Amino acid sequence: MRSYALISALLTTSVAAQTTGKLGDAAIISDNPVGAHYVATFPISEKNTVRGTVKAESNPDGKGVHFEVSVSGLPEAGGPWGYHLHAMPVPEDGNCTKTLAHLDPYERGNTPAAPKCDKEKPETCEVGDLSGKHGAMSGTSFTASYDDQYASLKEGIGAFFGNRSIVIHYSNSTRITCANFTMLTAGTPASPVGTGSPSPSGGFSSVVGPNGTAPPTGAPTYNPPATPTGSEPSPSQGAGSVIKTSFGFGALLAGVVAFVL
Ligand SMILES: *[C@@H]1O[C@H](CO)[C@@H](O)[C@H](O)[C@H]1NC(C)=O
Ligand SMILES: *[C@@H]1O[C@H](CO)[C@@H](O)[C@H](O)[C@H]1NC(C)=O
Ligand SMILES: *[C@@H]1O[C@H](CO)[C@@H](O)[C@H](O)[C@H]1NC(C)=O
Ligand SMILES: *[C@@H]1O[C@H](CO)[C@@H](O)[C@H](O)[C@H]1NC(C)=O
Ligand SMILES: *[C@@H]1O[C@H](CO)[C@@H](O)[C@H](O)[C@H]1NC(C)=O
Repeated sequence: MRSYALISALLTTSVAAQTTGKLGDAAIISDNPVGAHYVATFPISEKNTVRGTVKAESNPDGKGVHFEVSVSGLPEAGGPWGYHLHAMPVPEDGNCTKTLAHLDPYERGNTPAAPKCDKEKPETCEVGDLSGKHGAMSGTSFTASYDDQYASLKEGIGAFFGNRSIVIHYSNSTRITCANFTMLTAGTPASPVGTGSPSPSGGFSSVVGPNGTAPPTGAPTYNPPATPTGSEPSPSQGAGSVIKTSFGFGALLAGVVAFVL
């Protein structure tokens, strides 16, 4: 009896371990820019009848993102329809395959053998697995409205999806349609001081330190085709890229001048 209990406890532990990303559970993002507002509009296409939008807006306190999903023209058969934030934007040719995999900065993975996302433990799901965390689309028209604590509109962290896309697919995972997110309002950076750390139970790391420093592991940067850049956190990254850009421009200008001369 005792060994049975032990074995089942071990099994439970190993299953639980599998469902968590290699980089840990997803962090709750509490400092989304206030007023940030993005929308993805599914394109009018001859290849499918799906139309509609997915709107995403930072919650007023910066904690989590509010989603408004509204689509019509879903197929009569082949559902329920999963939908996910994907790592890459839709290319100009509209080919949804090229959005690559789900947004998954904690590297949970989504192989057929992996356990399905458990709604009761959203922190263990892929950040981009909106249907896993909040329910798949059903019927030919579908609306949903919910908050997600893990997907983020804060630029510079891996969970940021404002520069990425959303894909709807059949239950057999064939992709039906996809759309880029586009920015309507950038929002203002949340004040890092005074908002308090989320300190949730269950082993989350807090997202922002008391003085606004990003934690080493809480919010990894995420570049799907694996181009590790050393992952510096937000404030220095912003300044760094500005410097890099102007430097690059200067060099370009110098090159042009040299060429003209
Ligand atoms: C998935 O299902 C849809 C609708 O039933 C079908 O058109 C498509 O060919 C299927 N894809 C695969 C890979 O079987
Ligand atoms: C999606 O956004 C990317 C990056 O801004 C852009 O290159 C691409 O053309 C956009 N795709 C569509 C279908 O508009
Ligand atoms: C879409 O992209 C994939 C991967 O690059 C490619 O295999 C497929 O043929 C493309 N589909 C179309 C319709 O161009
Ligand atoms: C999107 O933004 C994130 C965070 O700023 C960045 O790490 C990632 O490389 C960007 N992805 C694309 C496709 O531009
Ligand atoms: C932030 O606070 C921590 C602990 O108080 C300190 O170790 C760290 O150096 C501070 N970072 C900055 C950028 O001020």
